[in-house]
Amino acid sequence: MRVLVTGGAGYVGSVVSALLLAEGHEVIVVDDLSTGHADAVPPGAVFHQMSVAALDPVLGDWDVDAVMHFAAKSLVGESVQEPAMYWRNNVVGTVALLDSMRAHGVPRIVFSSTAAVYGQAEQQPIEESAPTRPTNPYGATKLAVDMALTNYAQAYGMTAVSLRYFNVAGAYETADGLRFGERHAVETHLIPNALASAAGEGEAMSLFGTDYPTPDGTCVRDYIHVVDLAAAHVSALAAGEPGEHHILNLGSGSGSSVREVLSAVAAVTQRDVPVVEAPRRAGDPAVLVASHEQATRILGWRPQRDLEAMVSDAWQFFLASRA
Ligand code: UFG
Repeated sequence: MRVLVTGGAGYVGSVVSALLLAEGHEVIVVDDLSTGHADAVPPGAVFHQMSVAALDPVLGDWDVDAVMHFAAKSLVGESVQEPAMYWRNNVVGTVALLDSMRAHGVPRIVFSSTAAVYGQAEQQPIEESAPTRPTNPYGATKLAVDMALTNYAQAYGMTAVSLRYFNVAGAYETADGLRFGERHAVETHLIPNALASAAGEGEAMSLFGTDYPTPDGTCVRDYIHVVDLAAAHVSALAAGEPGEHHILNLGSGSGSSVREVLSAVAAVTQRDVPVVEAPRRAGDPAVLVASHEQATRILGWRPQRDLEAMVSDAWQFFLASRA
């Protein structure tokens, strides 16, 4: 297939682009590089530095079979400070993209959604039918797009798949030894912060909250390897029928506490991980664990890589990026 990947210079978008190329698809990446990196676009992809909002005049010429839409603002804290930027980028931009797809007859979209749409879920593991009560504008904008996709699929005969990610981690190494991973200018995620702490970069890492109602008092999350996640995206290209919108959680189905992740980081790196215990971070739910039964049913997908593989691959990427 010929696939347009928006946000293909970002973390998940670059790994999915690399995997699509490895599996023989053609890839066109569009990214405005507001948070992505030009050198994260895999060789073999055609790259256009432009925003999603500017796509309409050119989309018809590209003759793509599907869009994979990753381009979005994705920092929870920033979304609370600047909701307008989130609604404009994530919702207005996506509606414009959907209208361009309709105008130019692009029949299929795979959308990068998030567990943040569920907020503080009462039941674990979380199924797609759970109530959606996002606790921040980031989650609200992703939910708004999920709802738009349901409507657009039904009314205009598009085929849509929303993939709701839990905690993505790890990195991808191609057969040629190229590595694609996480390198955010503002890093808020646990595993990269713990690796930096183990490497002695900056201050000791803050552990946010030790008094949660969990077995060891720290938050429990469902970590999923970015390569498993990317494989689900490739499968999603062939899923569903015109008029259908599938919404699928992508997680491992089991939870790890922050302390368990820190132990895995210490074991993989063979170093101490300096940590300072700090108060809870605003908006963090105690437990988020996915049910991925729907993804298994619709995509035939099962995650294959465990927490140790995620930490180990993220560490190799971290070391290579500092070499
Ligand atoms: N944490 C720390 N110290 C850090 C970073 C994180 O203790 O330096 C803790 C957090 O408090 C949380 C856990 O580690 O308990 C995981 O935090 P992350 O920031 O790595 O991930 P989140 O679970 O907060 O975020 C994920 C996705 C978001 C999504 C959110 C939905 O990355 O995109 O789930 O709740 F919005």
